[in-house]
Amino acid sequence: MQTILVLFGGVSPEHDVSLVSAEAVLRNLNKDNRRILPVGITREGKWLLYGGSDYTEIAKDTWEQHPMNKTAFLSPERGMGLRVLTEGIPETVPIDVVFPVLHGENGEDGSVQGLFQLAGIPFVGCGVCASAASMDKSVTKLIAATTGVRQAQWLTLRRSSYKKDADKMCRTILDTLGLPVFIKPCSTGSSVGVSKVKTADQLTAALENAFRYDRKILAEEFISGKEVEVAVLGNEDPVAAVAGEIDAGAEFYDYETKYITSTSQAFIPARIDDKTMTDIRKWAVKIFTALGCAGLSRVDFFVTHEGSEIVFNEINTLPGFTPISMYPKMWDADGLAFSALLDRLIELAQEG
Ligand SMILES: Nc1ncnc2c1ncn2[C@@H]1O[C@H](COP(=O)(O)OP(=O)(O)O)[C@@H](O)[C@H]1O
Ligand SMILES: [Mg+2]
Repeated sequence: MQTILVLFGGVSPEHDVSLVSAEAVLRNLNKDNRRILPVGITREGKWLLYGGSDYTEIAKDTWEQHPMNKTAFLSPERGMGLRVLTEGIPETVPIDVVFPVLHGENGEDGSVQGLFQLAGIPFVGCGVCASAASMDKSVTKLIAATTGVRQAQWLTLRRSSYKKDADKMCRTILDTLGLPVFIKPCSTGSSVGVSKVKTADQLTAALENAFRYDRKILAEEFISGKEVEVAVLGNEDPVAAVAGEIDAGAEFYDYETKYITSTSQAFIPARIDDKTMTDIRKWAVKIFTALGCAGLSRVDFFVTHEGSEIVFNEINTLPGFTPISMYPKMWDADGLAFSALLDRLIELAQEG
């Protein structure tokens, strides 16, 4: 009997996305010979062992009210496992593997991975360093550059410099990168705080918005291309699935397009030629390896409309697992069904 702790929610702007991912993971997780413990982290950071058996309550965001929920937490003490409080009395449940179905801040950035590491519990996905480096887009770019992959030209900008001289920052961005230009916080996901700036008078508002989320942001050259994503799986010998393509059907792939409106369309395989397909999968594995990733990651690129050039955009170490998410869909198209993919991820966690 194996005990798997599935962690979801979290103190993150991507809390809601995590709830939808968690429902899909819990539903598809093979239950044979396994005890599954769903633990939710509320928006305030409270940990609760979900007492219900209806996983749709998680996606519907009503799970927190379940009367059988119990306070539960992972102790950093090695070998302690999950501590569950029943009327104030603690019980200890040993955990074999933690599956963090968390996205963004506090879940994908190495913080919670540090806790698993301290507790000595194997966990699905990247470790502390790869998670942290992949969450901070300016750090990711520096490491990805060592592979020789093409990236959009960029500037790393600090809130303190903006406060000192906003006009100078605007001039530098326009002189170096031109228009349109993308402005994005270094450490958000789901397009939170990301803007496409088409005219100089929109720049200040875009900078103010990005600096609301992070003290360090990026300005990036606009890349006109298809958005192509590659699912990578493995530890020492990672493999890439057939790449998929997202057509946002909007100005860009923003939060609304990702989760609210239904203009976006997925194409698996991506509509690219065979050589670009082979090359992009190789780049994805190289970038995964350079960042020291383990388990899984989704590596996102642009393929330029002109010349089919491959341009690396960003990496997601805990990509979405919602029913419409690309990571499980790309593996499914490659012959690895959702449940088998989850089994493989758990196996990789125990190997690491
Ligand atoms: N340099 C760029 N050129 C063109 N589009 C971009 C650029 N950077 C970001 N985008 C658009 O913005 C979306 C979100 O940006 P991304 O860097 O992927 O951040 P997030 O981590 O929030 O997904 C991308 O999917 C793409 O549609
Ligand atoms: Mg993205």
